[in-house]
Amino acid sequence: MNKVKNTLFSNKPVTIDENSLIMGIESSCDETACAIVKGGREVIANVVASQIKIHEEYGGVIPEIAAREHLEAINVVIDEALKQAGVKGEDISAFAATVGPGLVGCLLVGMNAAKTLALVYDKPFIGVNHLNAHLAANFIDTELRPPFIALLVSGGHTQIIKVSSYSDMEIIGETIDDAVGEAYDKVARLIGLPYPGGPKLDKLAQEGNPHAFKLPEAKVGGYDFSFSGLKTAVLRLVKSFDGQDMPVKDICASFQECVSSTLLKKVKNALIETGYKQVVLAGGVAANSEIRKKIFNLQNEGYEVYAPIMKYCTDNASMVASSAFFFDNTFDDINIEVFSRVSNR
Ligand code: KG4
Ligand code: ZN
Repeated sequence: MNKVKNTLFSNKPVTIDENSLIMGIESSCDETACAIVKGGREVIANVVASQIKIHEEYGGVIPEIAAREHLEAINVVIDEALKQAGVKGEDISAFAATVGPGLVGCLLVGMNAAKTLALVYDKPFIGVNHLNAHLAANFIDTELRPPFIALLVSGGHTQIIKVSSYSDMEIIGETIDDAVGEAYDKVARLIGLPYPGGPKLDKLAQEGNPHAFKLPEAKVGGYDFSFSGLKTAVLRLVKSFDGQDMPVKDICASFQECVSSTLLKKVKNALIETGYKQVVLAGGVAANSEIRKKIFNLQNEGYEVYAPIMKYCTDNASMVASSAFFFDNTFDDINIEVFSRVSNR
């Protein structure tokens, strides 16, 4: 795949192909990350500075603090990525950064760093959509090509996306209230687990009985989801124990069973309706053991299943560089701005 882009400064055409190195920068939430990826699939350097420890104290991400932390970390992660890759700034073909959706003050740090590098080295700047980037994590170290059905599950989003080609993606279903990751974090908090509760809840669930409690599956039409009713049901269940010998592992397992079977059902319907034979899992919650297991079981029904390895599921910059190569090739203007939310339906 050859793409020609113009640089920011002198408007010089730059060809981007399988041998090009793209630097990706991610700073949309609580991870400051920089990566260098060759041809969209081969990771040459991947550096992530996580702020989880800092936000743990507050039980969630505080945007102002996060933005300040990104400022502290950004130059460090960029230098480290260049060092890991053994290349210099002038060897990079294009500089990419997440421009949204995310926390505006945080996004500005990464985007301005990438724009500055693009100006300094006279190379193109590519603004990347964070959700596309999560999907693009599946191109790393694979031969994946569209068409495919994607299940994107993160702290902020739950979507089923029909990816017909690199330039044709349609969100066919999404949550009408809480995102899956958000539901995990809220339920984790209800049962007293520290932030971010998702991975901790997953761990406990693996030791519990998934059929101990029958929790309600929301009846939402089409490919849409709803998780707020489930969250309320868990709250009621927790309260019913009144702090006495609460079977935490069984509650976690029953919640996880309810969420994962709902997701599987809708993904399967989307595969049947489109006739697509490939399914990809993406986003931070793609690290979840039971969701992975259920989606990977689709292999037994003849589907090809992709999911990024753990470190490319949660926020990272390799997926940003990969998305800059495959999906986000329309943004390349110095005036492009960051955005906090997507509303594409
Ligand atoms: O994609 P991501 O890194 O950030 C967003 O863009 O939202 O996703 C973070 C979310 C958090 O809600 C976290 O609790 C959840 O992913 N998460 C998990 C697991 N690992 C991360 N949720 C359930 N099970 C996991 N193993
Ligand atoms: Zn994310």
